Amino acid sequence: MANKNLAKAKNAKNDEFYTQYHDIEKEINAYLEYNPDVFRGKTILLPCDDPEWSNFTLYFAQNFGALGLRKLISTSYAPESKKIKSFQPTLFEQQAPIYDADKSKTNGKIFVLEHDITGDGKINIEDLEWDYLQGDGDFRSDEVKKLRDEADIIITNPPFSLFREFLAWITEADKQFAIIGNMNAITYKEVFPLIKDNKIWLGNGFDHGNAYFRPIAQREYADGVYDDSTGLVKFRNCVWMTNIEHGRRHEPLKLMTMADNIRYSKHKDITSAEQPYPHYDNYDAIEVPYTDAIPSDYTGVMGVPISFLDKYCPEQFEIIGITDRQNTSKLRTKKYTAEDSPKYNDLNARSVLLINGNYIQVYARILIRKRQ
Ligand SMILES: C[S@@+](CC[C@H](N)C(=O)[O-])C[C@H]1O[C@@H](n2cnc3c(N)ncnc32)[C@H](O)[C@@H]1O
Repeated sequence: MANKNLAKAKNAKNDEFYTQYHDIEKEINAYLEYNPDVFRGKTILLPCDDPEWSNFTLYFAQNFGALGLRKLISTSYAPESKKIKSFQPTLFEQQAPIYDADKSKTNGKIFVLEHDITGDGKINIEDLEWDYLQGDGDFRSDEVKKLRDEADIIITNPPFSLFREFLAWITEADKQFAIIGNMNAITYKEVFPLIKDNKIWLGNGFDHGNAYFRPIAQREYADGVYDDSTGLVKFRNCVWMTNIEHGRRHEPLKLMTMADNIRYSKHKDITSAEQPYPHYDNYDAIEVPYTDAIPSDYTGVMGVPISFLDKYCPEQFEIIGITDRQNTSKLRTKKYTAEDSPKYNDLNARSVLLINGNYIQVYARILIRKRQ
């Protein structure tokens, strides 16, 4: 039990990372470039936010007019539920006529921007109205669900520990969205089918795939994660997931033929392999270890790294499946038993190469085929 609580507290701390303004602006600009009217007349909900800490509300409030929004709603999660030990309400909150010292700790808040309250003829951040929510602002509460149902588009960086639940919460309501998550989430059984069917995809993304966030709680970090000089933590493999169109996903990858890859690839294990692009032992597909080494002229099924998704153009390739434990793929040609190897369970979770009589497990792979 103690362990469970510890894990919960750790998860809660891991959830307190705040997105940089620049990253939000860059992502939204990619959607606007594709369709300048994508947000026009729309109600946007920013749940799991915290306008006193976060740049999402700031960005959308500042750009309310330029984007042509109808209404902006943002909600925050109560400090007590966040398990913040040294909570101090901001001056902004304390000086407000509706300030309530108890609710400040136990309730979430709602911020709404819809009308020109100041009478300056513009709707901007000065016109933001706020109140306490009835509950703690949990996105799963009926109160926040109602706001979800009212919204056209949902945008946020949700709590990392509740990513699956959060995405399900959006998709069950059939909303447009753009949210931040970890690339590995695409292998989840709730997420991958949506990717495969082109119902959701990766967004434009972070600079060089590295995402920097501002943590609000001090904690221990592995080497190279926290930068003292910037006060930011760096996460690799962070992606935007969305069902809003952008241009980059329609740009086909420039690729060489198989023969040219074998001759000129920058990857030594392709140019000097005894058998480049080997066929899996348990799937009817070949192994392609790097996205930039996908052969342009191969018409069969290929297993490619998960990071391929960041370069996936649905007009160029079709996604057939994924190699994973629950795999029910028709492309799987073999199921290992204890007679094959004592590690047969692990082998069945992945694609496998049989090299010099040894079974070699490959990392999770997406199975793709070139569109004809
Ligand atoms: C990764 S942070 C991102 C915050 C903000 N959206 C941003 O990107 O700047 C996730 C936020 O979700 C909040 N949170 C955690 N669990 C929640 C829940 N069940 N319902 C709503 N918010 C939650 C956390 O307190 C935290 O503020």
